[in-house]
Amino acid sequence: MQKRQLLYSGKAKDIYATSDPNLVIMRYRDDLTALNGEKRGSFEGKGAINQAVSDTIFAFLENRGIKTHFVKTLGDNETLVKAVTILPLEVIVRNVAAGSFSRKYGVKEGTPLKSAVLEYSYKMDELGDPMLAESHILALGLATQEQLNKIADSTYKVNDALKELFSRLGLNLIDFKVEFGVTSDGDILLADEITQDSCRLWDMETGVRVDKDRFRQDLGGVKDAYQDLLERLTRASTPTSCENA
Ligand code: TMP
Repeated sequence: MQKRQLLYSGKAKDIYATSDPNLVIMRYRDDLTALNGEKRGSFEGKGAINQAVSDTIFAFLENRGIKTHFVKTLGDNETLVKAVTILPLEVIVRNVAAGSFSRKYGVKEGTPLKSAVLEYSYKMDELGDPMLAESHILALGLATQEQLNKIADSTYKVNDALKELFSRLGLNLIDFKVEFGVTSDGDILLADEITQDSCRLWDMETGVRVDKDRFRQDLGGVKDAYQDLLERLTRASTPTSCENA
C-alpha cells in the first residue's frame, strides 16, 4: 500500500489516496478552527494529539461492535482508513445543555437533559450549517431513511460507549459531533474523527472544560487541555483494557 496524491484538504486534516482504491490516509494537521472557519489558530503537536486520541477512541468503538472507517495508525500523524463518501451531515448528540442548544432554547449551560438529544445539521459552511429535521434530510436527498436509521442506531451506541469511557477518565461527555460515510459497497461507517475538536468534555470534579471551547471562548490553556485528555486516555491504557476495566 503506497501513499498517493492529496485528494482533499479540510480545516484540520488532509486526505490522501493510496494504491488501494478502498483505502485512504487521513493526516492530522496542527490547525484549530472555530465559528465555521472564521477563527483560526494552531499549536505544535495538536495533530499528533488528535490522531492519538481519535485512533484510540475509534479502536475502542470497533471493539464495541460499532462499524467505523478505522483501519490502523500509521506514523507522522497519519491514519489508514476505509475510503468513504462522507454524507453532508453533522450528527450531534447532547447529554447536557451547552453551546448552541443553550443559546437557542434558553437553557443554562450545564443543565442535564432528561434524555439525549440527537440533532442533525447540514454540513454547508456557506449556509452556516443549518439544523435539519429528518424530513429535511429526506426531502433534500442527503440520506435515505434506511441510512438515517443506521446512523441514529450507531450514534446512540457511540454515545453510550463514549459516556462510559470518558466517565472512567473523570470526564463528563456534554455533547459531541460525528460524521458518517458510505463505502463503495453501500455500507454506512462512522468516519471523520472524535477528538476535543468535536466533543465537549468537562472534568467531573472541577467542571473545567477540556475541549475546543477553550479556544472558541479564549479561555487559555488550550494545549494543556488537549494534552490532558491524551494523558488520561494513555493512563487508562488500551481500548481492550478500558472495556474490561
Ligand atoms: P454546538 O453547541 O456549537 O452546536 O456544538 C455541539 C457539539 O458539536 C460540540 O461538541 C461541538 C461539536 N461541533 C463540531 O464538532 N463541529 C461543528 O461544526 C459544530 C457546529 C459543532
